[in-house]
Amino acid sequence: MKEGGETTDFLGFSTIRWEGGIDGAAVLLDQTLLPQEVREIRIGDLETMRDAIVRLAVRGAPAIGIAAAYGFVLGVRDRPPRDADPWRARVREVRERLASSRPTAVNLFHALDRMARLAARIAPEAPEARLATLLSEALAIHREDADLCERIGRHGATLIGDGDGILTHCNAGALATGGIGTALAGIYVAHRQGRRVRVWADETRPLWQGARLTAWELSRAGIDVTVLCDGAAAGLIASGRVKLVITGADRIAMNGDTANKVGTYGIAALAGLHEVPFYIAAPTTTFDPGTPGGASIPIEERDGEEVAGPLGIRVAPAAVRAWNPAFDVTPARLIAGFITEDGIVRPPYERTIRTLLASNPSAEQWARALFPPGGDRGGGNREKGNTHRPPP
Ligand code: MRU
Repeated sequence: MKEGGETTDFLGFSTIRWEGGIDGAAVLLDQTLLPQEVREIRIGDLETMRDAIVRLAVRGAPAIGIAAAYGFVLGVRDRPPRDADPWRARVREVRERLASSRPTAVNLFHALDRMARLAARIAPEAPEARLATLLSEALAIHREDADLCERIGRHGATLIGDGDGILTHCNAGALATGGIGTALAGIYVAHRQGRRVRVWADETRPLWQGARLTAWELSRAGIDVTVLCDGAAAGLIASGRVKLVITGADRIAMNGDTANKVGTYGIAALAGLHEVPFYIAAPTTTFDPGTPGGASIPIEERDGEEVAGPLGIRVAPAAVRAWNPAFDVTPARLIAGFITEDGIVRPPYERTIRTLLASNPSAEQWARALFPPGGDRGGGNREKGNTHRPPP
């Protein structure tokens, strides 16, 4: 069972969990191996957790946040300084190390800031007490995410009728969160309520999260799923078989512009052209009060080899470069609504997103945490190969 995620038992796997007490470890389902191999990895140190996030063994904005919270515990557990000042220095070091793993998903920074703020507050306590407090905070972040997913699912399900065809892109399901997902949450709840749903899953080039992950988890749940090439989505939407499109998000700006897996923008534009409603499902932890519009969202750029040599098979000529942004930004005007844990937020987003965050005490709390002097929310402190550059 997942920590705090009883509602995912029906899927029969655990995306991430903590095993044991303060001397325990995080256990991840290695998503780079799915669906061919279902293998868990046990992670007991900061660098292995950071590496798991970078290489997408754990991925999806909320799951990255949870992994970072556990990674934080592992980082401060290693060589914990007794005195308060060196402890604070170590906390900053661990936070920065994890913050440099992936720049776009704001849930990473939300979770790290929450952990770092608490760690600074408890600096005067004994080392063992600090670790126990931080582990229970990481477990709370995990449990809360499971609850947010369930609530998103209940709101998402209200948009889904019996027999509907739904198109999704990438994986925003149980594999991407601490619970039943965001984009897939409404589908799971509608299915649970007895409605028949047909899901169309874009394969999601270049890393195939749709073909490998979304198709895997939906088929385990007994939900009718069909994989298609990303390029086939236009024809599918034009054919009238898609009633609505739902995707997840990695970061939502205050004006509603939304970063999600590369290709999402194209799908949203096509949906708009054919008057098919395009929704984003995301918890309030994915909204970023520090980002006014899409142009300020840092977009992760990954190794071009993922495009030129997908799954390790070189398909492009050896000398050819590849451009590999992991995300793109969908303009707010293409988004019919945001399915959140507090309901469906509709335009005008400049006003409704502010109202959403203002009425959500935890969102307001983390918004404050996101503005510490020198705080990095992915705009800087990134390592070579993980920063956004213009197309070559
Ligand atoms: O690169 P990934 O696989 O981490 O990208 C994931 C996505 O784009 C998801 O749609 C997003 O993180 C939302 S997950 C609930």
